[in-house]
Amino acid sequence: MTAQNSIDKSALIAIIGGTGELGSAIARRLAKAGERVIIGSRDAARAASCASALAAELASAVGDGYGRSIISGASNAEAAAQAELIIVTVPFASQEATLKDIAAGVTGKIVVDTTVPLVPPKVMRVQLPSEGSAAVRAQKFLGEGVRVVSAFHNVAAHKLATDAVVDCDVLVFGDDKAAREAVIRVVSACGLRGLHAGALVNSAAAEALTSILIFLNKQYAVDGAGVRITGDLQSPAAG
Ligand SMILES: NC(=O)c1ccc[n+]([C@@H]2O[C@H](COP(=O)([O-])OP(=O)(O)OC[C@H]3O[C@@H](n4cnc5c(N)ncnc54)[C@H](OP(=O)(O)O)[C@@H]3O)[C@@H](O)[C@H]2O)c1
Repeated sequence: MTAQNSIDKSALIAIIGGTGELGSAIARRLAKAGERVIIGSRDAARAASCASALAAELASAVGDGYGRSIISGASNAEAAAQAELIIVTVPFASQEATLKDIAAGVTGKIVVDTTVPLVPPKVMRVQLPSEGSAAVRAQKFLGEGVRVVSAFHNVAAHKLATDAVVDCDVLVFGDDKAAREAVIRVVSACGLRGLHAGALVNSAAAEALTSILIFLNKQYAVDGAGVRITGDLQSPAAG
């Protein structure tokens, strides 16, 4: 098993379900920051067309040929197999089927799970799975040979899809500190502040918080409430 700790700008990042709301927003932000991105879909042709559209947008904004050199599309399984870091952005109901689809290609890699275990129609109520959280469920499914990190639970995708500053911190959970650090770099490339938030079991807190944010959106008629952690959190202490 190869355990890559530093995911630098040369690394290929797969966005599984990258045709969707959150995945396409993350892909766009990463590509704009110059990261190499491969969009995954159940349908390779849909992924390729999404990648072409994004490349065309970037080429007109940044310069000819630029987008095409760093953005591609493939089936979810192929995208996961090619990439060094994999971000899973699919609905809770399809999390397990998607993980099954990519499992063969993620051994030794970092898999970022963004799943919020919302159970419609009561999405304003916290309904965590029996494993305790969607992230722990992902880790159990993929096994110890994969470093699962979870993040992005509290960010409104439609805000991330714009170029505006998103007023929300990203809490990053995982049992491997180096893997969390790698993901925090990716979060920063998206223009967000990522914070070490401890072990993967802690992911339950952020996953649950999303139902509360959805409730706040309705109760106070706001468009995409977010979370901010106060205090001086600029540089993490050693250890
Ligand atoms: N939207 C947000 O604001 C937000 C914020 C934070 C976290 N999240 C979490 O991020 C994840 C993705 O959310 P989203 O809003 O981006 O979801 P989405 O747009 O509804 O779906 C994302 C992608 O998942 C794939 N998908 C849909 N149904 C599927 C199925 N039955 N089986 C396999 N794949 C399926 C589709 O890709 P293909 O059809 O191309 O395969 C789709 O484009 C969720 O777990 C959500 O809780 C979302």
